[in-house]
Amino acid sequence: MQGTYAEIYHAWRDDPDGYWAELARDIDWFTPPSRIFDGNDGVYGRWFPDAAGNTCHNCVDRHVAAGRGDTTALIYDSPVTGRKARYSYEALLAQVNAMAAVLADAGVAKGDRVIVYMPMIPEAIFAMLACARIGAIHSVVFGGFAASELAARIDDSAAKLVVTASCGVEPNRVVAYKPLLDAAIDLARNKPERCLVLQRPELAADLVPGRDVDLGQALSAAAGRMVPCAALAATDPLYILYTSGTTGQPKGVIRDNGGHMVALAWTMRALYGVEPGEVYWAASDIGWVVGHSYIVYAPLLNGSTTVLYEGKPVGTPDAGAFWRVVEEYKVSVLFTAPTAFRAIRKEDPEGRFVKRHDISSLRALFLAGERADPDTIRWAEAVLGVPVIDHWWQTETGWAIAGNPLGLGALPVKHGSPTVTMPGYDLRVLDDAGHEVPPGTLGNIALRLPLPPGCLTTFWNADERFRTACLSEFPGYYKTADAGYVDEDGYVFVMARTDDIINVAGHRLSTGAMEEVCASHPDVAECAVIGVADAVKGQVPAGFLVLKSGVSRESSVVEQEVVGLVRDRIGPVAAFKTAICVKRLPKTRSGKILRGTMQKIADGLDWKMPATIDDPAILDEIAGVLSERRIG
Ligand code: COA
Ligand code: AMP
Repeated sequence: MQGTYAEIYHAWRDDPDGYWAELARDIDWFTPPSRIFDGNDGVYGRWFPDAAGNTCHNCVDRHVAAGRGDTTALIYDSPVTGRKARYSYEALLAQVNAMAAVLADAGVAKGDRVIVYMPMIPEAIFAMLACARIGAIHSVVFGGFAASELAARIDDSAAKLVVTASCGVEPNRVVAYKPLLDAAIDLARNKPERCLVLQRPELAADLVPGRDVDLGQALSAAAGRMVPCAALAATDPLYILYTSGTTGQPKGVIRDNGGHMVALAWTMRALYGVEPGEVYWAASDIGWVVGHSYIVYAPLLNGSTTVLYEGKPVGTPDAGAFWRVVEEYKVSVLFTAPTAFRAIRKEDPEGRFVKRHDISSLRALFLAGERADPDTIRWAEAVLGVPVIDHWWQTETGWAIAGNPLGLGALPVKHGSPTVTMPGYDLRVLDDAGHEVPPGTLGNIALRLPLPPGCLTTFWNADERFRTACLSEFPGYYKTADAGYVDEDGYVFVMARTDDIINVAGHRLSTGAMEEVCASHPDVAECAVIGVADAVKGQVPAGFLVLKSGVSRESSVVEQEVVGLVRDRIGPVAAFKTAICVKRLPKTRSGKILRGTMQKIADGLDWKMPATIDDPAILDEIAGVLSERRIG
């Protein structure tokens, strides 16, 4: 669809069904949609209810059939292992076919759930696409989670099979995945029938006879086999991706096939401005939504080349890692989280590493995953000399709610704003009573239903939880749980979460879930976990513990045990390294813990004694402890 941002936004507003019907023509359907939206189906309606197609077909087969089999589909670059590989679309098709054959031989059929617990290796992408091919529903679990988090996902999805690797490779250690998986399966009530295990040279895993299969051998044996793409309803689930909710129980976001393809294909051209054949690199992890949408599905739907990078922005080997990759593969558009840039800037404040590389292929940097602080944006603009574009979205939406559509002609940037609402989203800012607030006024950011194609349809097996968590507070709207405002020019500003979610190095975590773990320590009477500002990670969690009366053990010992407990139960990704014993927690007279005020004190911000506080002396005590520990 041609036009400026304003024209296209209005085209959508004037005729949403016509707009989506036109974008749906870019997809190669088995049965094209004759109806665009059914408001009576699903929790808030379903997109393309009578269409049939296959996401893997559109990501892979379609390009080969169109004579583009030689184009590079996937570049694997792994500074942590020293390995590199390239797969053309034709080679990708062969790999995905072999993986699909292995899955089918293991009894996986349409609708079965498959957990993909893998590091950033090509086989993870083959597994995701193979599931899409046969209609199995994948659920990728990030490697930095602990066994109990993995167990919760295996149980909730009732997974039939797990695809894993023997290990992941972090710069400072080899992470043995298989013992974590074995522990998770021990914990899980639902036992998967089979585990396909890729043995990596860095560490071999023990296989459980009768349950575990050597994936490398199975793939070699299946080489050359072809598995047809299943004709799936557009409304069939493509994947479940678990994300932090306000309790320890993660929410299984469901993405469908049809709406997801239509929306993501549009974003590649209109938002990122990337052509087929160009190299697009999302430096994230396949365990997160950014990885699902922009390492795997969108670039491949677009016939572009995607980069799978198994490394970090710094330390693998240095702060020039990103620029080496941009130069080596002629990356056109890079997408990462602001935290990665803060990490690079800390090591290379002058941008010296950038100058050692030819990054002339780079047209733009996109940032998302957390608020992009203006300071970081300005620094990135100065060292890269290309537009730096903040865009805002969530696991639930799968693609940007607000952004600056480079492909339609970028709008002027306002630092601190992810720019404007994308076509398909009707964004409103509401006060707590659900009334719209005037421009410039802070409020709850909500999206008028229906959500556009590509957004979650519901939570896995939990329609009621979806309604309660997201749709009930503001009837007729989806609650983003982000607070912010829209200025007079229609620019969106996203300022903070309205729930207990914090963003640690671009990773979404629930402080409520961490509190559940802290509270499970036998010596802890009550606790509060807050996010404290961090120069690189944006936020890091800090836990405040009140010990049970009569506990005579050293508080430092309990603090270390609690830190260990969170690492064991949630995982290293939580970066929970600070637990502090305090005598009491500050509360309102009605007993609500004043986490917001504690956070302000910890961040060294101005704070006022809340009028409703039960005992003002407690906040002074907390401020004293924080300054003793040099926090805040
Ligand atoms: N498997 C196992 N462990 C993992 C892991 C994985 N896939 N990813 C991270 N971890 C571990 C790390 O080894 C670290 O463990 P440690 O406590 O033993 O050191 C811990 O989880 C925290 O990791 P991380 O958040 O990555 O912090 P870091 O200090 O290693 O690196 C950054 C900091 C900023 C360089 C890094 O977070 C980064 O590159 N972030 C990019 C953001 C991103 O990709 N966001 C996704 C959304 S766009
Ligand atoms: P996730 O589901 O992990 O993608 O995290 C989504 C949350 O991260 C959002 O609800 C926001 O709180 C935050 N977030 C993501 N991108 C941005 C952004 N560009 N600006 C501000 N916050 C962001």
